[in-house]
Amino acid sequence: MALYSEKVLDHFRNPRNAGRIADPDAIGEVGNPVCGDMMHVYIKVKENRIEDIKVETFGCAAAVASASMMTELAMGKTIEEAKQITRDDVAAALEGLPPTKMHCSNLAADGLKDAIEKYLKEKR
Ligand code: FES
Repeated sequence: MALYSEKVLDHFRNPRNAGRIADPDAIGEVGNPVCGDMMHVYIKVKENRIEDIKVETFGCAAAVASASMMTELAMGKTIEEAKQITRDDVAAALEGLPPTKMHCSNLAADGLKDAIEKYLKEKR
């Protein structure tokens, strides 16, 4: 059986929303203690919705694909909805990740949460 689903390979080869936002409302920064990989998540918020989101991934194929899928799940969502996105949501949308690669999907979900928390803190 192939290690990665077609979906994972597609998002790895053609990552959606990769890069930075020049004037973001918040930047989430996370590192993966298991492998040392990193992710930066840029968000732009308008009327309580994620109007734009971009990700820089310094990591493996599963991390790149997870970041890409996470941006698709988060785009256009309200802050409250986006906060609920879990690593399992990201992995399920990718039609599964190998068990040894599940920790990679943490980066995407945690990076999004970190960006949202920073956004909410600054707004207060
Ligand atoms: Fe580091 Fe996947 S091995 S995020």
